[in-house]
Amino acid sequence: MKTRPFGKHGFQVSEIGFGAWAIGGSWGPQSEEDSVAALHKALDLGVNFIDTAAGYGNGKSERIIGQVLRDRNSTEVFVATKTPPTPGNWPPSPYDIAEERYSESYLRENIDQRLECLGAEKLDLLQLHTWTRAWNRNPTPFESLRKIQQDGKVGLIGVSTPEHDQNSVIDLMRGGFIDSVQVIYNIFEQEPAAELLDVAGETGTGVIVRVVFDEGVLTGKFTNETRFAADDFRNGYFAGDRLERAVKRAEAVRADLEGSELSMAEAALKFALAHPAVSTVIPGMRNAQQASLNCGVSDLPDLDLNLLSKLRTHNWRRAFWYGGKG
Ligand SMILES: NC(=O)c1ccc[n+]([C@@H]2O[C@H](COP(=O)([O-])OP(=O)(O)OC[C@H]3O[C@@H](n4cnc5c(N)ncnc54)[C@H](OP(=O)(O)O)[C@@H]3O)[C@@H](O)[C@H]2O)c1
Repeated sequence: MKTRPFGKHGFQVSEIGFGAWAIGGSWGPQSEEDSVAALHKALDLGVNFIDTAAGYGNGKSERIIGQVLRDRNSTEVFVATKTPPTPGNWPPSPYDIAEERYSESYLRENIDQRLECLGAEKLDLLQLHTWTRAWNRNPTPFESLRKIQQDGKVGLIGVSTPEHDQNSVIDLMRGGFIDSVQVIYNIFEQEPAAELLDVAGETGTGVIVRVVFDEGVLTGKFTNETRFAADDFRNGYFAGDRLERAVKRAEAVRADLEGSELSMAEAALKFALAHPAVSTVIPGMRNAQQASLNCGVSDLPDLDLNLLSKLRTHNWRRAFWYGGKG
C-alpha cells in the first residue's frame, strides 16, 4: 500500500482509506461479522485511514471501528469522523443560521459523543458533515472547533462538501479555516478538477475522496435489472430512470477499458488517485473480499496517460443526485 502526505499536516495516509458508511447501516442487510472482517482485512493490507460519521447507524459504525482498533492494539490508524448539523434542512438552507445549526455547545456535546462511540480521548479529524456557502463570510463553527481543538479533544478540522455545491468549501480552504476537505470526485463527477483540487494543493489542505464508485455503479456490477434491499438508500439514489442512465454510462466506461486488464473498480480508484492533490480515496467496503480488491489497487501501476484521457471523456454533468428523486 502506497502512502501520500495528508496535505501540509506532516503525516502520511494510505492511498486507499476505509469508507465506513455501509458498516453502520442504510445499505441493506450488513452482518457485523462481515463489517469486522472488512476492517481487519483492510488494516492488514496497509490501510491507515478510516472515515466514519455520527450518522452511520447513529454511532454504530464508530463503535465497530473503535472495537476493532482496540482488539488490534492499533494506535497508528487515523480515524476521521463527522458531526452533522442539528436536525433541520439537509443540506442547510441559505437562510439557516450557522450558530444555530452548529452552535458551540452543540458541537461540544456531539464531539463528546463521538469520543465515547469511538472509545477515544481525542478525534484525529472532526469534519462538519455538510455546509452551505451562505456561511462562508462568517464561518463561526470553525472558531468554535478551534477552541475545542485547544482543549485537546480534536486534532484536525475539516468539512465534507454538500453534494449540490461542492465548490462552496473553496473559500474555506483559501481562508485557512479547514485542514481537510472530503469531496466527491470520480469518473462521472470531475468538476473538483476545475478548481477545488488545485486550491487544496496550493493551500496544503488534505483531500479525502468519497463515492469513488458512484455508490457502486462504477464497479460495473449493476444492470438495469439490479434491485436493492428495501432499506438500502440506493433505492432513492437510483430511483426512476437513474439506474438505467448510470448503467449505460458505466458500460461506456467498460468499453474504454477493453485491453487495459483493469477491472472497472480498479480503474475507478486509479482515476481518483491520478490527481496529485488527492491524499486518500475511501471506497466503502462491506466485506473482506471488497477490502482485498480495493486495497490491492494502490500497488497496481498508475493509469497510462492514454487511458486517463479516455476516462476523462466520461465526465457527466448530470447535476447532483441527492438521496432520492422527488
Ligand atoms: N456526505 C458525506 O460526507 C458522505 C457521503 C457519502 C459517503 N461518504 C463517505 O465516503 C465513503 C465512500 O462512499 P460510499 O460508501 O457512499 O460509496 P462508494 O465508495 O462509491 O461505493 C461503495 C459501495 O460499493 C460496493 N463495493 C465496494 N467495493 C467494491 C468492489 N471492489 N467491487 C464491487 N462492489 C464494491 C459496496 O456496496 P455493495 O456491495 O452493496 O454494492 C460499497 O458499499 C463512505 O463509506 C463514507 O465514509 C461521505
